[in-house]
Amino acid sequence: MRSIPVLALTFSLAALPALAQDARQIERMIEGRHGLMTLMAYELGKLGGMAKEEAPYDAEVAGDAASNLSALASVLSPELFPEGSGVDEAEDSEALPAIWEKPDDFAMKITQLEEATAQMQAAAGTDLAGLQGAMRDLGSACGSCHETYRQKD
Ligand code: HEC
Repeated sequence: MRSIPVLALTFSLAALPALAQDARQIERMIEGRHGLMTLMAYELGKLGGMAKEEAPYDAEVAGDAASNLSALASVLSPELFPEGSGVDEAEDSEALPAIWEKPDDFAMKITQLEEATAQMQAAAGTDLAGLQGAMRDLGSACGSCHETYRQKD
């Protein structure tokens, strides 16, 4: 007798409309990538402030920010951009259709970001000149992806 409620539960879960599940999953992915981007912007802001000499250079703070950024970039993946989560399809999305039209190029932009964060990680804790040098590639790794794949405000 004890197995009957379990079976009933299994059937009712299976009967959940697939569409509602997809919509919930899409919402989660959009929230997740927004959180990830926000954290990347936060870490980049620390490095940018030092690069522009608006904040005093601190090797430890810079090294930590660069490590965090590198870890965050390693989480960025095309999986966070499921079909149906584009700007015309989902609320709160600024993801342009080009993401799904040029998936190889989009994936390459992610690789470029990972490379730029690795460079920054090697340079940030060394000295200010190193940080400033690595900032150019890193800034353009964010910017060049946004240019093509993110809706402008
Ligand atoms: C591979 C492409 C790509 C790279 C690289 C990338 N972004 Fe993004 N970013 C996007 C896309 C696409 C969106 C829009 C996502 C959405 O609205 O669902 C976005 C959105 C954002 C947002 C807005 C988040 C929100 O809550 O609406 C911020 C902030 C951001 N990115 C910062 C950064 C920073 C900083 C970097 C570099 C360290 C970076 N991004 C690198 C593609 C990228």
